[in-house]
Amino acid sequence: MRVTFTDIKPEIGSLVHVDKAHLLDDEVIEQVRQALETRGVLVFPQIDVSDEEQLAFTDRLGTRTNFTKKAPGSDVSAADVYKITLDKKINTEPDYVLGTFFWHIDGLLMDIPLPKATVLSARRLSDEGGSTEFANLYAAYEHLSDQEKRELEGLRVIHTIEAAVRPVFGSTPPGRAERYREMAPPMEHPLVWTHADGRKSLLLGTHADGVVGQASPHGRSLLWRLNQWAAQPAFTYKHDWQVGDLVIWDNEGLMHRVVPYTDEGRVMHRTSIGGTMKPGHPATEAAMAKMLEPVY
Ligand code: OGA
Ligand code: MN
Repeated sequence: MRVTFTDIKPEIGSLVHVDKAHLLDDEVIEQVRQALETRGVLVFPQIDVSDEEQLAFTDRLGTRTNFTKKAPGSDVSAADVYKITLDKKINTEPDYVLGTFFWHIDGLLMDIPLPKATVLSARRLSDEGGSTEFANLYAAYEHLSDQEKRELEGLRVIHTIEAAVRPVFGSTPPGRAERYREMAPPMEHPLVWTHADGRKSLLLGTHADGVVGQASPHGRSLLWRLNQWAAQPAFTYKHDWQVGDLVIWDNEGLMHRVVPYTDEGRVMHRTSIGGTMKPGHPATEAAMAKMLEPVY
């Protein structure tokens, strides 16, 4: 066997053992693709890839995408490799990185096909914090009761960058609103997303700001309750990194966040695999009207 997979938890995660020399073999790539669908997160312990090797792996699994190319402050020294770090010498404006402390789905705020998978490798670690958590949103849907599933069917959710930065800044800093809007318009997505293969998952995250047709406390409380449900231990995996680890996750069916850290030494290198599915579209003012109405 060129590659072996070991389950980490029943609902999420596999460890993958493969000799780096065989990482790009057809057979390995095919099995990694399949495991990504069924296991959500794949961990390649201390495989120690270079940027070139990470990009080659990314390209073999799909079509690379770089949705943060326009993110301010991002370093463009290695094209298509985004550096996740609080080091201001590498990333001069790490708003986006501080946003990773909160549950999110990569690229869901952009009007692009949802990135299919994210590849992250650990280059330097923080002294404290910095583990990454993943929640399986297929499992979160599947384990709802039939009645809950019926209640959620057909609901539409507004995702905004304002909601994503609210816990980071309190409110959007003056002068940044326009830039944010340009990068990420308010998006309307289904709450329950039916994928091309018929499987269903929830689309959640801190960016989920309200439910179409519901007043803000009603919509938001539903979203917060679901977020809490989805983040329960049975559906989640927390990865404690070692330098050289590479982790890939199914960004269409999982949300993720990092345990907060302050250490400017932590550096992760990220590449992304483009998707073909667009679960939603930019939100119209009419769709947002009820959630923006004053409540009293
Ligand atoms: C990301 C991200 C988490 C981490 O790269 O999109 O959320 O652990 N990173 O740095
Ligand atoms: Mn992310």
